[in-house]
Amino acid sequence: MKPHPLEQPTLKRVRFLRARGQEAQAEAVLWEALAQEPNLATVHLELAQLRWPGPDYLHWLAWLHGELQPRLYVGIGVERGESLKLALPPTRVIGVDPAPMGDPLAACNAAASLYRQTSAEFLSDPPADCGLRAEGAGF
Ligand SMILES: C[S@@+](CC[C@H](N)C(=O)[O-])C[C@H]1O[C@@H](n2cnc3c(N)ncnc32)[C@H](O)[C@@H]1O
Repeated sequence: MKPHPLEQPTLKRVRFLRARGQEAQAEAVLWEALAQEPNLATVHLELAQLRWPGPDYLHWLAWLHGELQPRLYVGIGVERGESLKLALPPTRVIGVDPAPMGDPLAACNAAASLYRQTSAEFLSDPPADCGLRAEGAGF
């Protein structure tokens, strides 16, 4: 997706400020950009990292897989499969995405299936082979 023209200048300014320890000013610059255009994913991400520093969701997801070892992991909106690849055998993985990028299952360590449809389509009528239909659900 083409970046919005506000994104790069905003992030450049924010990194300049943060490198000088000016966190409050950096946060103000991020909020200013979002006031002009609320749909700036990279700006939201930078704001989240500024306000809540530390390991990101993929770190915690990997930790949860290790701790919980779920029988089933359903990923809604899998894009390139960055989160799917964190599941470990014997967890079974189901990915649902109407427009995944590349092959989201390529780096999967666990047995995995991908359904190219929206979550609403998938959940309203789970495909017969996914194992989630009431009559055959093994989970
Ligand atoms: C930000 S990406 C998700 C990244 C992923 N969760 C990860 O951590 O690697 C958003 C994805 O949601 C998908 N998506 C959008 N609308 C959807 C819907 N209604 N149902 C399922 N997936 C959807 C898009 O195609 C896109 O690949």
